[in-house]
Amino acid sequence: MSPRSAAAPLRVLTLNIYHDKADWPARRARIVDGIRALDPDVVALQEVLQHEGLRNQAEDLAEALGYEAHFFSVDPAGAPKRYGNALLTRDPVLHAASRALPPLQDGRVAGRVDIAVGARRYAMVVTHLHHTPEGGAIRAEQLGDLLAWLEETADGVPLVLMGDFNAPSEAAVFAPLRADFVEAYASLHEGGDLARTTLNPAFFDARRQKRIDHVFAQRDAFDVREARIVLDAPDRQGTWPSDHFGLLATLVPRPLPQTARAWEQRALTPDARARALVAAMTADEKFRLIRSDFGLGVDGGPRPEGALGSAGYTPAIARLGIPALQLADAGLGVTNPANIRPGDYATPMPSGPMTASTWSPEIAWAGGATMGRQAWRKGFNVLLAGSLNLQRDPRNGRNFEYAGEDPLLAGTLVGASVRGIQDQHVVSTLKHFAMNDMETGRNTHSADIGARAMHESDLLAFRVAMEVEEPGAVMSAYNRINGTYAGEHAELLDRVLKRDWGFGGWVLSDWGGAHSAAQAANAGLDQQSAGEVFDKEVWFDRPLREAIAAGTVAPARLDDMATRVLRGLIATGAFDHPPRIAPIDVAADEAVVQRTAEAGIVLLHNPDGLLPLAKDVRRVLVVGGHADRGVIAGGGSSAVLGRGGNAVEGIAPTTWPGPVVFHPSSPLAALRALLPQAEVRFVDGRDLRDASRAAGEVDAVVVFATQWSAESVDLPDMDLPQGQDALIAAVAEANPRTAVVLETNGPVPMPWREDVGAVLEAWYPGIRGGEAIARVLLGEVNPSGRLPVTWPTGLEQLPRPALPGLGFDPPQPPGDAIDYTIEGANVGYRWFAARGLEPLYPFGHGLSYTTFAYDDFRVRVLGPEVWAYFSVANTGARRGADVPQLYLELPAGHPTPVRLAGWQRIELDPGERREVAVRLSPHALADYDPDARRWHIPGGRYGVRLARSAGDAGEVRRIELPPRTLEMRIGSAPTAAP
Ligand code: BGC
Repeated sequence: MSPRSAAAPLRVLTLNIYHDKADWPARRARIVDGIRALDPDVVALQEVLQHEGLRNQAEDLAEALGYEAHFFSVDPAGAPKRYGNALLTRDPVLHAASRALPPLQDGRVAGRVDIAVGARRYAMVVTHLHHTPEGGAIRAEQLGDLLAWLEETADGVPLVLMGDFNAPSEAAVFAPLRADFVEAYASLHEGGDLARTTLNPAFFDARRQKRIDHVFAQRDAFDVREARIVLDAPDRQGTWPSDHFGLLATLVPRPLPQTARAWEQRALTPDARARALVAAMTADEKFRLIRSDFGLGVDGGPRPEGALGSAGYTPAIARLGIPALQLADAGLGVTNPANIRPGDYATPMPSGPMTASTWSPEIAWAGGATMGRQAWRKGFNVLLAGSLNLQRDPRNGRNFEYAGEDPLLAGTLVGASVRGIQDQHVVSTLKHFAMNDMETGRNTHSADIGARAMHESDLLAFRVAMEVEEPGAVMSAYNRINGTYAGEHAELLDRVLKRDWGFGGWVLSDWGGAHSAAQAANAGLDQQSAGEVFDKEVWFDRPLREAIAAGTVAPARLDDMATRVLRGLIATGAFDHPPRIAPIDVAADEAVVQRTAEAGIVLLHNPDGLLPLAKDVRRVLVVGGHADRGVIAGGGSSAVLGRGGNAVEGIAPTTWPGPVVFHPSSPLAALRALLPQAEVRFVDGRDLRDASRAAGEVDAVVVFATQWSAESVDLPDMDLPQGQDALIAAVAEANPRTAVVLETNGPVPMPWREDVGAVLEAWYPGIRGGEAIARVLLGEVNPSGRLPVTWPTGLEQLPRPALPGLGFDPPQPPGDAIDYTIEGANVGYRWFAARGLEPLYPFGHGLSYTTFAYDDFRVRVLGPEVWAYFSVANTGARRGADVPQLYLELPAGHPTPVRLAGWQRIELDPGERREVAVRLSPHALADYDPDARRWHIPGGRYGVRLARSAGDAGEVRRIELPPRTLEMRIGSAPTAAP
């Protein structure tokens, strides 16, 4: 799309397409033709419907028109029938947001998208305010709510408010609007010739001069050139189908005030603002912006002046109003490395697989929002978060930071978390791009994999996340990919990420992951991180200056690097909304942790219903895992110390990547609190005989087993360390009423599985983990987590059973390459399916204290969309959440047998039954063609399976899909960018 002139008038059309699906085909064609003839820039649609057998009407129209659709609904995702409003735009969308407007009646919602028209930015808002049953008057409280939202989010971007207000223009209720907005007004009733109005007399109330559609444009930003009523025609009987018609307005943007500091104009796009800034910068300032310093200081020396104390710092450029970059690690909470900011604790979040086990984008968003809020209140504006490497091997030491093995699930949830962070005006990264799937030899090893396989696995996860939320920054990985360092990988950084996908932010190196000046800069690395401490040289200072002087790097590239940093800051709001120091809200934020853990703990095994433990249990023994003190966490740069510090000090390693941390959230204490009448004893499990004797004396035993894992080192094997398997076996032998709680990086073999009564996977559950575990054990919470990874029986089932160099003191040195061509895109369950292997637990597995039944499963192909419809019923006696999953079975001969294509987390009361609609992800349908550089659905006969896990035969429906190519670009970078 060619950039349009900034001064171009905006043609906006607001239209209520109110009707039900029966007459849609006929009306659709009429509406498409009508809109096309009017040639609007933006269409605000009200009363848009998505229903079984009917595509989302806004998306359907948008596709026919070549526009982009944004649909806003208060009906939950997964509801079979969703009402809402939509905005169709033909200019690039910078950002979308929405707000429900209570009192709600069939989907009242306001949505906003910010668009870039040339260098100008506009906020377009669509709404539909319902009339009261009493008489068609707009509800004042809804309008009040809408205005409050607009005020809250007012950011100097010129605003156009469109929609169906269902009230006459003169209504007093509009008074608060009039101060700031001018109305684009047209009336059919003017001139008094009611006979010629286009209204259905049944709807029209002459006395009230009722009008439906309104366009309000921000008074100081626009002049109204034209407003007219358009569209639609009476039916053959001469009756108008409804009281709805369209209003087209032409708005002429007023010229922006002349200022030398154009970048301060919020009416300009982030890109235009960033370019204006760069045009005002000196070369030295640009060179300063494209590198950060280690925020902890060199070799324990003083930290850089102005640095709060965190992983990275770039000083402010005060004369231009460019804020300092304060970059903090926040894989699992806002970090305070080595307690450099004494006593400044943050909330330790549950590990990545825990959040992924919830299968809930909403919970993932809340986790991100918690970290973003805390960061902002601590003064940080960039979070090194969004950890998204795929779990290809349970031994990877950093699996606890990631979100499992499936690109769609991981990308969706990590994208939601990044959105949560950035909604607080804090930049998030996505990291580590790409293929840093093992830690062993991470600074040098080459991850070897074919292009197609990489695009359909690890890269797809990033792509999916970027579609949910474009991060301000992406961190390149340490490793090499097919021989080339990630930070020098022109194909991955410049071509795929920036050009094919349209990523508009900046790429920063991992700490120690920059290896050159010219090569890295030309490949697409934009910012070097803490090079003075971690890299051989500060490449992006003197060496890069020399390279530019010598002509090996174009000066325009330096501008691009600086522009991208600024663009990331501006687009996320970090530039305009600098942090304000304030205390964190410990209670509210810990509630998010507990909710995440309660939704993410996975009940793996419970054959005879040992869990939930009976509330009248008399004597309980708790064994091991330091459960008397807390819950374990992982080590490395993501480690967070929460209130109360480390509950178990002194466990080796006490230095990097340690210390081993237990958060002070004791499952024992939580169990005691919930079982006041019982005797709950604890033995630490060091003495097997002692533990097994005590186990024989109680009604039930809960054994806690921990597996510490950390960045920079992989686990030597899958086993529980320190003889914990023997402890569990001994205790279970003494008392089969033994439940095992695992606090692990990921899957461990369970040689004792058939001898215990239950197994819970509690991952690293975060600072309220003890409470969450206790509540699940006792049935206060019904477990609903589903595995985001396949649980192998042991190493023998992995693509690479033997890998040299794992663990702290490996007997063999690591190899310099990891061969991922073995499984390629078939990560996790796809590998198991391709090889016909039976895991201990399949991907997606998780039990509940209630039971669910699926019924009425049907699949429909609606144009380019594939929808699955079914019902879920809670057939047990407890409220609980289920996660029905949809798997796509690919045509015979396809290299990948099966892909997760969709799911829906749904919470039901006993006896409750609900209809669910799930749109299959186009990513599951499409293959990547590396030669054509495109995503393509080859077409053919596919199966869609509704199942409880990847291992469940479920029910399959067959569909025929025609071939189709998908859109490639997803980011917001202007197409013209270098
Ligand atoms: C890790 C990154 C982290 C960075 C800064 C590196 O060792 O790989 O994830 O953000 O350090 O602490």
